[in-house]
Amino acid sequence: MKLETSYLGLHLRNPFVVGASPFGDSGHVARQLQDAGAGAIVMRSLFEEQIDAEQRGLNHNVEFGAESHAEATSYFPHFAEYQLTPDHYLRQIADLKGTLTIPVIASLNGCRPGGWTDYAARFEAAGADAIELNLYQLAADGERDASQVEADMIETVRRVTGSVRIPVAVKLSPFHTSPVQFALALEQAGAAGVVLFNRFYQPDFDIDELEVVPRLNLSDSSELLLRLRWLSIISPRLKGSLAATGGVHNPADIVKAILAGAHAVQLVSVLLKHGPRYLSTLLDGVRQWMIDHDYKSVGEFRGAMNLRRCPDPAAFERANYQRILQSWRV
Ligand SMILES: Cc1cc2nc3c(=O)[nH]c(=O)nc-3n(C[C@H](O)[C@H](O)[C@H](O)COP(=O)(O)O)c2cc1C
Repeated sequence: MKLETSYLGLHLRNPFVVGASPFGDSGHVARQLQDAGAGAIVMRSLFEEQIDAEQRGLNHNVEFGAESHAEATSYFPHFAEYQLTPDHYLRQIADLKGTLTIPVIASLNGCRPGGWTDYAARFEAAGADAIELNLYQLAADGERDASQVEADMIETVRRVTGSVRIPVAVKLSPFHTSPVQFALALEQAGAAGVVLFNRFYQPDFDIDELEVVPRLNLSDSSELLLRLRWLSIISPRLKGSLAATGGVHNPADIVKAILAGAHAVQLVSVLLKHGPRYLSTLLDGVRQWMIDHDYKSVGEFRGAMNLRRCPDPAAFERANYQRILQSWRV
Protein backbone atom coordinates (compact mmCIF):
# COMPACT_ATOMS: atom_id res chain seq x y z
CA MET A 1 0.00 0.00 0.00
CA LYS A 2 1.38 3.37 -1.02
CA LEU A 3 0.77 6.31 1.26
CA GLU A 4 3.40 8.42 -0.48
CA THR A 5 2.42 11.78 -1.80
CA SER A 6 4.00 14.71 -3.55
CA TYR A 7 3.44 18.01 -1.77
CA LEU A 8 4.97 21.26 -3.06
CA GLY A 9 7.18 19.08 -5.22
CA LEU A 10 8.56 17.37 -2.10
CA HIS A 11 8.30 13.65 -1.74
CA LEU A 12 6.46 12.79 1.50
CA ARG A 13 6.17 9.23 2.79
CA ASN A 14 2.56 10.02 3.64
CA PRO A 15 0.22 13.06 3.57
CA PHE A 16 0.31 13.58 7.36
CA VAL A 17 1.97 16.91 8.01
CA VAL A 18 2.38 18.37 11.48
CA GLY A 19 1.00 21.89 11.03
CA ALA A 20 2.64 25.14 12.15
CA SER A 21 2.72 25.04 15.95
CA PRO A 22 5.07 24.69 18.92
CA PHE A 23 5.77 21.05 17.94
CA GLY A 24 8.80 22.12 15.94
CA ASP A 25 10.35 24.03 18.86
CA SER A 26 11.96 20.89 20.24
CA GLY A 27 14.07 18.49 18.22
CA HIS A 28 13.12 15.75 20.66
CA VAL A 29 9.36 16.22 20.15
CA ALA A 30 9.81 16.58 16.39
CA ARG A 31 11.69 13.28 16.43
CA GLN A 32 8.80 11.63 18.29
CA LEU A 33 6.43 12.90 15.61
CA GLN A 34 8.68 11.56 12.90
CA ASP A 35 8.90 8.19 14.67
CA ALA A 36 5.11 8.11 14.98
CA GLY A 37 4.86 8.54 11.21
CA ALA A 38 4.72 12.27 10.32
CA GLY A 39 5.37 12.94 6.64
CA ALA A 40 6.70 16.47 7.22
CA ILE A 41 6.66 19.18 9.85
CA VAL A 42 5.85 22.87 9.64
CA MET A 43 7.58 25.08 12.19
CA ARG A 44 5.78 27.83 14.07
CA SER A 45 5.78 31.18 12.27
CA LEU A 46 8.34 33.90 12.37
CA PHE A 47 6.38 37.15 12.16
CA GLU A 48 6.85 40.13 9.87
CA GLU A 49 6.89 42.38 12.94
CA GLN A 50 9.69 40.40 14.58
CA ILE A 51 11.84 40.59 11.46
CA ASP A 52 11.10 44.29 10.89
CA ALA A 53 12.12 45.04 14.46
CA GLU A 54 15.33 43.05 14.15
CA GLN A 55 16.21 44.67 10.85
CA ARG A 56 15.84 48.07 12.45
CA GLY A 57 18.08 46.99 15.30
CA LEU A 58 15.41 46.96 17.95
CA ASN A 59 15.44 44.56 20.82
CA HIS A 60 12.15 45.46 22.42
CA ASN A 61 8.63 46.14 21.26
CA VAL A 62 8.76 49.84 20.40
CA GLU A 63 8.19 50.96 16.84
CA PHE A 64 6.83 47.66 15.63
CA GLY A 65 5.31 48.06 12.18
CA ALA A 66 6.42 50.94 9.98
CA GLU A 67 2.96 52.45 9.54
CA SER A 68 1.48 51.73 12.94
CA HIS A 69 1.02 54.29 15.64
CA ALA A 70 2.53 54.24 19.07
CA GLU A 71 -0.57 52.70 20.63
CA ALA A 72 -0.74 49.96 18.06
CA THR A 73 2.90 49.06 18.66
CA SER A 74 2.12 48.35 22.29
CA TYR A 75 -0.31 45.58 21.23
CA PHE A 76 2.52 43.40 20.07
CA PRO A 77 4.34 40.97 22.33
CA HIS A 78 7.62 42.03 23.87
CA PHE A 79 10.62 40.53 22.17
CA ALA A 80 11.12 38.13 25.06
CA GLU A 81 7.57 36.80 24.67
CA TYR A 82 8.30 35.33 21.25
CA GLN A 83 9.40 31.74 21.60
CA LEU A 84 11.96 32.05 18.82
CA THR A 85 13.90 35.16 17.89
CA PRO A 86 14.87 35.43 14.22
CA ASP A 87 18.40 34.13 14.92
CA HIS A 88 17.09 31.35 17.09
CA TYR A 89 14.62 30.46 14.34
CA LEU A 90 17.40 29.98 11.79
CA ARG A 91 19.32 27.80 14.25
CA GLN A 92 16.17 25.77 14.90
CA ILE A 93 15.75 25.10 11.16
CA ALA A 94 19.33 23.82 11.04
CA ASP A 95 18.84 21.75 14.21
CA LEU A 96 15.66 20.13 12.91
CA LYS A 97 17.36 19.41 9.59
CA GLY A 98 20.18 17.76 11.52
CA THR A 99 17.74 15.65 13.55
CA LEU A 100 15.01 14.71 11.09
CA THR A 101 14.87 12.91 7.79
CA ILE A 102 11.38 14.20 6.90
CA PRO A 103 11.03 17.61 5.20
CA VAL A 104 11.11 20.67 7.43
CA ILE A 105 8.88 23.55 6.33
CA ALA A 106 9.66 26.93 7.85
CA SER A 107 6.86 29.45 8.28
CA LEU A 108 6.79 33.18 7.64
CA ASN A 109 3.81 35.17 8.79
CA GLY A 110 3.05 38.53 7.22
CA CYS A 111 0.91 40.12 4.55
CA ARG A 112 2.48 43.42 3.47
CA PRO A 113 5.42 43.70 1.11
CA GLY A 114 8.54 44.86 2.96
CA GLY A 115 12.16 44.14 3.73
CA TRP A 116 11.12 41.26 5.97
CA THR A 117 10.42 39.07 2.94
CA ASP A 118 14.22 38.81 2.45
CA TYR A 119 14.15 36.46 5.40
CA ALA A 120 12.85 33.74 3.12
CA ALA A 121 16.33 33.44 1.61
CA ARG A 122 17.79 32.98 5.09
CA PHE A 123 15.31 30.17 5.76
CA GLU A 124 16.51 28.55 2.56
CA ALA A 125 20.18 29.01 3.48
CA ALA A 126 19.50 27.49 6.92
CA GLY A 127 18.24 24.33 5.18
CA ALA A 128 14.45 24.62 5.09
CA ASP A 129 12.91 22.32 2.48
CA ALA A 130 10.02 24.70 1.84
CA ILE A 131 8.37 27.80 3.22
CA GLU A 132 4.79 28.22 4.33
CA LEU A 133 3.80 31.86 4.08
CA ASN A 134 0.88 32.67 6.32
CA LEU A 135 -1.02 35.75 5.09
CA TYR A 136 -2.97 36.12 8.35
CA GLN A 137 -4.59 39.51 8.68
CA LEU A 138 -7.85 41.10 9.65
CA ALA A 139 -8.85 43.57 6.95
CA ALA A 140 -10.28 46.19 9.31
CA ASP A 141 -9.29 49.34 7.41
CA GLY A 142 -12.41 51.01 6.00
CA GLU A 143 -10.31 52.93 3.47
CA ARG A 144 -8.83 49.92 1.69
CA ASP A 145 -10.97 47.80 -0.59
CA ALA A 146 -10.59 44.07 -1.14
CA SER A 147 -8.53 44.45 -4.29
CA GLN A 148 -5.97 46.65 -2.50
CA VAL A 149 -5.70 44.21 0.39
CA GLU A 150 -5.26 41.29 -2.00
CA ALA A 151 -2.80 43.18 -4.20
CA ASP A 152 -0.52 43.60 -1.17
CA MET A 153 -0.81 39.90 -0.44
CA ILE A 154 0.02 38.94 -4.01
CA GLU A 155 3.02 41.26 -4.04
CA THR A 156 4.18 39.76 -0.74
CA VAL A 157 3.94 36.28 -2.24
CA ARG A 158 5.79 37.42 -5.37
CA ARG A 159 8.64 38.81 -3.28
CA VAL A 160 8.95 35.69 -1.16
CA THR A 161 8.79 33.26 -4.07
CA GLY A 162 11.15 35.48 -6.07
CA SER A 163 13.84 35.34 -3.41
CA VAL A 164 14.10 31.56 -2.99
CA ARG A 165 14.41 28.39 -5.03
CA ILE A 166 12.61 26.20 -2.51
CA PRO A 167 8.83 25.86 -2.88
CA VAL A 168 6.51 28.28 -1.11
CA ALA A 169 3.02 27.37 0.09
CA VAL A 170 0.57 30.11 1.02
CA LYS A 171 -1.73 29.69 4.00
CA LEU A 172 -4.97 31.54 3.38
CA SER A 173 -7.92 32.85 5.25
CA PRO A 174 -11.37 31.64 4.13
CA PHE A 175 -12.55 35.25 3.91
CA HIS A 176 -11.79 36.17 0.33
CA THR A 177 -14.58 37.28 -1.97
CA SER A 178 -13.43 34.99 -4.74
CA PRO A 179 -11.19 32.29 -3.25
CA VAL A 180 -10.70 30.35 -6.50
CA GLN A 181 -9.52 33.42 -8.39
CA PHE A 182 -7.28 34.38 -5.48
CA ALA A 183 -5.74 30.91 -5.27
CA LEU A 184 -5.04 31.02 -9.01
CA ALA A 185 -3.48 34.48 -8.61
CA LEU A 186 -1.23 33.13 -5.87
CA GLU A 187 -0.14 30.36 -8.20
CA GLN A 188 0.62 32.98 -10.86
CA ALA A 189 2.71 34.81 -8.27
CA GLY A 190 4.84 31.71 -7.82
CA ALA A 191 3.15 29.80 -5.00
CA ALA A 192 3.71 26.05 -5.25
CA GLY A 193 0.64 25.34 -3.17
CA VAL A 194 -2.14 26.66 -1.04
CA VAL A 195 -3.03 25.73 2.54
CA LEU A 196 -6.73 25.99 3.42
CA PHE A 197 -7.48 27.63 5.84
CA ASN A 198 -6.09 29.78 8.56
CA ARG A 199 -8.10 29.34 11.70
CA PHE A 200 -8.83 32.78 13.03
CA TYR A 201 -8.15 33.38 16.63
CA GLN A 202 -11.45 34.80 17.93
CA PRO A 203 -11.39 36.72 21.20
CA ASP A 204 -14.43 36.56 23.45
CA PHE A 205 -16.04 39.27 25.62
CA ASP A 206 -16.09 39.16 29.41
CA ILE A 207 -19.49 40.80 30.10
CA ASP A 208 -18.77 41.44 33.80
CA GLU A 209 -15.39 43.11 33.42
CA LEU A 210 -16.21 44.50 29.96
CA GLU A 211 -12.92 43.16 28.73
CA VAL A 212 -11.85 41.33 25.63
CA VAL A 213 -10.67 37.85 26.53
CA PRO A 214 -7.96 36.40 24.32
CA ARG A 215 -8.61 32.71 23.83
CA LEU A 216 -7.21 29.94 21.72
CA ASN A 217 -9.67 27.08 21.53
CA LEU A 218 -8.55 23.94 19.84
CA SER A 219 -10.58 22.89 16.82
CA ASP A 220 -13.00 20.03 16.31
CA SER A 221 -14.05 18.09 13.22
CA SER A 222 -16.94 20.45 12.39
CA GLU A 223 -14.37 23.01 11.19
CA LEU A 224 -13.22 20.67 8.47
CA LEU A 225 -16.44 21.14 6.48
CA LEU A 226 -15.51 24.63 5.29
CA ARG A 227 -12.15 23.25 4.14
CA LEU A 228 -13.79 20.33 2.33
CA ARG A 229 -16.02 22.69 0.38
CA TRP A 230 -13.18 24.87 -0.88
CA LEU A 231 -10.74 22.02 -1.43
CA SER A 232 -13.39 20.39 -3.65
CA ILE A 233 -13.93 23.58 -5.63
CA ILE A 234 -10.30 24.70 -5.93
CA SER A 235 -8.67 21.32 -6.48
CA PRO A 236 -9.72 20.83 -10.12
CA ARG A 237 -8.46 24.32 -10.98
CA LEU A 238 -5.08 24.52 -9.24
CA LYS A 239 -1.96 23.00 -10.84
CA GLY A 240 0.01 23.06 -7.59
CA SER A 241 -0.51 21.41 -4.24
CA LEU A 242 -3.30 21.73 -1.73
CA ALA A 243 -3.15 21.13 2.00
CA ALA A 244 -5.99 21.06 4.49
CA THR A 245 -5.53 22.63 7.90
CA GLY A 246 -8.26 23.01 10.49
CA GLY A 247 -10.51 20.42 12.04
CA VAL A 248 -8.69 17.21 11.12
CA HIS A 249 -9.14 14.91 14.12
CA ASN A 250 -9.63 11.32 13.02
CA PRO A 251 -8.90 8.96 10.13
CA ALA A 252 -12.25 9.76 8.47
CA ASP A 253 -11.37 13.49 8.47
CA ILE A 254 -8.07 12.70 6.75
CA VAL A 255 -9.75 10.55 4.13
CA LYS A 256 -12.34 13.27 3.48
CA ALA A 257 -9.67 15.95 2.97
CA ILE A 258 -7.86 13.73 0.47
CA LEU A 259 -11.11 12.85 -1.33
CA ALA A 260 -11.71 16.60 -1.63
CA GLY A 261 -8.31 17.01 -3.29
CA ALA A 262 -5.71 17.61 -0.55
CA HIS A 263 -2.16 16.41 -1.19
CA ALA A 264 -1.31 16.91 2.46
CA VAL A 265 -3.35 17.07 5.63
CA GLN A 266 -2.07 19.19 8.49
CA LEU A 267 -2.62 18.26 12.10
CA VAL A 268 -2.23 20.42 15.19
CA SER A 269 -5.16 20.40 17.65
CA VAL A 270 -5.53 16.62 17.53
CA LEU A 271 -1.85 16.17 18.40
CA LEU A 272 -2.00 18.78 21.16
CA LYS A 273 -4.95 16.87 22.63
CA HIS A 274 -3.63 13.33 22.27
CA GLY A 275 0.16 13.70 21.96
CA PRO A 276 2.62 12.90 19.15
CA ARG A 277 2.13 9.13 19.29
CA TYR A 278 -1.49 9.52 18.22
CA LEU A 279 -0.19 10.02 14.71
CA SER A 280 0.40 6.29 14.39
CA THR A 281 -3.23 5.60 15.39
CA LEU A 282 -4.39 8.00 12.68
CA LEU A 283 -2.12 6.34 10.14
CA ASP A 284 -3.46 2.90 11.06
CA GLY A 285 -7.01 4.18 10.66
CA VAL A 286 -6.37 5.53 7.16
CA ARG A 287 -4.58 2.33 6.15
CA GLN A 288 -7.56 0.30 7.36
CA TRP A 289 -9.98 2.48 5.38
CA MET A 290 -7.83 1.97 2.27
CA ILE A 291 -7.86 -1.81 2.79
CA ASP A 292 -11.64 -1.81 3.33
CA HIS A 293 -12.16 0.20 0.14
CA ASP A 294 -9.53 -1.61 -1.88
CA TYR A 295 -7.29 1.37 -2.54
CA LYS A 296 -3.60 0.63 -3.09
CA SER A 297 -2.41 4.22 -3.08
CA VAL A 298 -3.46 7.64 -1.88
CA GLY A 299 -3.29 8.87 -5.48
CA GLU A 300 -6.15 6.54 -6.42
CA PHE A 301 -8.66 8.41 -4.30
CA ARG A 302 -7.21 11.92 -4.07
CA GLY A 303 -9.76 14.33 -5.49
CA ALA A 304 -12.33 11.58 -6.14
CA MET A 305 -14.97 13.80 -4.53
CA ASN A 306 -13.86 17.16 -5.83
CA LEU A 307 -16.11 19.14 -8.14
CA ARG A 308 -14.15 18.35 -11.32
CA ARG A 309 -17.18 17.00 -13.07
CA CYS A 310 -19.49 19.70 -11.81
CA PRO A 311 -19.88 22.29 -14.59
CA ASP A 312 -21.19 25.01 -12.27
CA PRO A 313 -20.16 24.59 -8.60
CA ALA A 314 -21.87 27.86 -7.62
CA ALA A 315 -25.26 26.68 -8.95
CA PHE A 316 -24.70 23.25 -7.37
CA GLU A 317 -24.03 24.82 -3.96
CA ARG A 318 -26.96 27.20 -4.27
CA ALA A 319 -29.32 24.40 -5.24
CA ASN A 320 -28.20 22.31 -2.25
CA TYR A 321 -28.59 25.31 0.01
CA GLN A 322 -32.18 25.83 -1.13
CA ARG A 323 -32.98 22.13 -0.86
CA ILE A 324 -31.69 21.87 2.71
CA LEU A 325 -33.62 24.96 3.84
CA GLN A 326 -36.80 23.71 2.19
CA SER A 327 -36.50 20.32 3.89
CA TRP A 328 -37.26 21.76 7.36
CA ARG A 329 -40.82 21.76 8.64
CA VAL A 330 -42.14 22.96 12.01
C1 LIG B 1 -0.79 26.53 19.89
C2 LIG B 1 -0.89 26.82 18.43
C3 LIG B 1 0.12 27.53 17.79
C4 LIG B 1 0.02 27.82 16.42
N1 LIG B 1 1.02 28.53 15.82
C5 LIG B 1 0.93 28.81 14.50
C6 LIG B 1 1.95 29.53 13.85
O1 LIG B 1 2.94 29.94 14.44
N2 LIG B 1 1.79 29.78 12.52
C7 LIG B 1 0.71 29.36 11.80
O2 LIG B 1 0.64 29.57 10.59
N3 LIG B 1 -0.28 28.66 12.42
C8 LIG B 1 -0.19 28.40 13.72
N4 LIG B 1 -1.20 27.70 14.34
C9 LIG B 1 -2.36 27.27 13.53
C10 LIG B 1 -2.19 25.81 13.10
O3 LIG B 1 -1.07 25.64 12.24
C11 LIG B 1 -3.43 25.29 12.35
O4 LIG B 1 -3.56 25.95 11.11
C12 LIG B 1 -4.71 25.46 13.14
O5 LIG B 1 -4.51 25.11 14.50
C13 LIG B 1 -5.82 24.60 12.55
O6 LIG B 1 -5.47 23.25 12.56
P1 LIG B 1 -6.01 22.23 13.69
O7 LIG B 1 -7.48 22.21 13.59
O8 LIG B 1 -5.36 20.92 13.32
O9 LIG B 1 -5.54 22.76 15.00
C14 LIG B 1 -1.11 27.39 15.68
C15 LIG B 1 -2.11 26.67 16.34
C16 LIG B 1 -2.02 26.37 17.68
C17 LIG B 1 -3.12 25.59 18.34
